[in-house]
Amino acid sequence: MKEQLENIYKNATEDLEKSSSISDIDEIRAKYLSRKGEFNEIKKNLKNLSDEDKRVIGSLANEITQKLEDALKEKHAEFYRKELNAKLLTERIDITLPGKYTPMGKVHPLTSTTNEIVAIFQSLGFSVVPEEKSPEVETEYYNFDALNVPKDHPARDVQDTFYTEIAKNVVLRSQTSGAQIHAMEGKNPPIRVISPGRVYRNENINARKNNLFHQIEGLYVDKDITFGDLKGVLNEFIRIYFGSSRPTRFRSSFFPFTEPSAEVDVQCIMCEGKGCRTCSGTGWLEVLGCGMVDPNVLEVVGIDPDVYTGFAFGMGVERLAMLKYAIDDIRLFFNNDERFLKQF
Ligand code: DAH
Repeated sequence: MKEQLENIYKNATEDLEKSSSISDIDEIRAKYLSRKGEFNEIKKNLKNLSDEDKRVIGSLANEITQKLEDALKEKHAEFYRKELNAKLLTERIDITLPGKYTPMGKVHPLTSTTNEIVAIFQSLGFSVVPEEKSPEVETEYYNFDALNVPKDHPARDVQDTFYTEIAKNVVLRSQTSGAQIHAMEGKNPPIRVISPGRVYRNENINARKNNLFHQIEGLYVDKDITFGDLKGVLNEFIRIYFGSSRPTRFRSSFFPFTEPSAEVDVQCIMCEGKGCRTCSGTGWLEVLGCGMVDPNVLEVVGIDPDVYTGFAFGMGVERLAMLKYAIDDIRLFFNNDERFLKQF
């Protein structure tokens, strides 16, 4: 039996010498050391031996299998290293190769401008009207009637306003001012809100006009609100948005929903007031309309104009962005030309 054991060990060692891969090692282990392996067959016959032989042969068998196990392990490690090295050589990564370019997404300049303006007014105590109170599809009531716009006002004309086929009186809003009505309905002053959003007008598109653009509406209604408050808030906004060095002016104007009304002009950034194509030679660009809320408008929403007064304003986001970044064509905001968008 001892001879048998030594023979098996000899065969196993020979097999091991001929082996050349991890899978060869696995085969050898299965052939000799597994439960059905050759050594186990012998160990099964130990029970027929005398106690003394059992001890001698048993420990020899253990010693030999342990030796084989060690040799297999060592070879396994050697092949593992070899195979890994070969793999590393063929699968080598050249870390000096240029990486794959993944362009970074950016916030659209109209979005970042809107966010910036909203943040300024929030810092002045205004809160944002919830989206459902500022719909882009409006009835004529919110877009015109409640805002004191006469039935025969030219802004109502199909030449100016997009009417939908939903119903005769449903329009794509031509101004965010309707959000003022939504904000005041069922509320008691003080009301101090802003409302950013898209508006639509039936315009001939050119460098200064698009038929979709963005406005930010503002409204402050409380006791004792004066035109002085309006000027104070808007001047502070302009100072923060443009920096203090940009000349601005209030110019009296007319809107059906405010009395008195004004427009605010900012000096043209293209020509610095000298007059150019962008500002039609005037040196100034209008950025917003504003005024004291007309008593008729307060009455429509059930706020007593003898107790409360308020101011309102509406500004063009594209205009404000163009003036800040010296952009001379409004269409650039809508063309999705990466060369333009990347700059912001
Ligand atoms: N809605 C006006 C427009 O689109 C702008 C405006 C003017 C808004 C005066 C106001 C306001 O709230 O008081 O031209």
